[in-house]
Amino acid sequence: MSEYIVHSVQESDALALSLAKRIRGKAMLILLEGDLGAGKTTFVKALGKALGVKKVINSPTFTILKSYQMEDGRLLHHMDAYRLEGITQDLGFEEIFDDDAICVVEWPHFIRDQLPVDAISVQLEIMDETTRRFIFRGSNETLEAVVEGL
Ligand SMILES: Nc1ncnc2c1ncn2[C@@H]1O[C@H](COP(=O)(O)OP(=O)(O)O)[C@@H](O)[C@H]1O
Ligand SMILES: [Mg+2]
Repeated sequence: MSEYIVHSVQESDALALSLAKRIRGKAMLILLEGDLGAGKTTFVKALGKALGVKKVINSPTFTILKSYQMEDGRLLHHMDAYRLEGITQDLGFEEIFDDDAICVVEWPHFIRDQLPVDAISVQLEIMDETTRRFIFRGSNETLEAVVEGL
């Protein structure tokens, strides 16, 4: 586990850049937890930019899933599960998670049963208007090493 307090969007972006450098070229699932306005989408924008996504990343709330090409040609999947609350049917996400891709999921607890176990989870907390607390956790030793000392 590692924890950071940031005081601006720029500092949040710097954390995303730091994580991007470590996951570049790897397949990875990243779960972003936190209230509305915590900075989940802001984090994905910076992460995508650092991974070479040329398109502007917007909140996928109304489409649930958007996929972008990274610098290396592989995909960055950005999912927002907010509108999937209470849905129990199998939505066929395995394909996305099995893909040789980086997947980032906002509101993951709404589809918890459909998510692979191995993931980096990022908990975002609003401290005040511009201050955020980030807590990074890896579900196994390898992923824990990825988030140590970002
Ligand atoms: N330190 C910070 N990190 C991230 N966002 C911040 C920070 N300070 C202020 N903000 C603002 O908080 C909002 C976060 O929105 P967004 O990323 O869409 O949140 P979420 O996806 O979690 O609902 C943005 O308006 C952003 O400018
Ligand atoms: Mg969002």
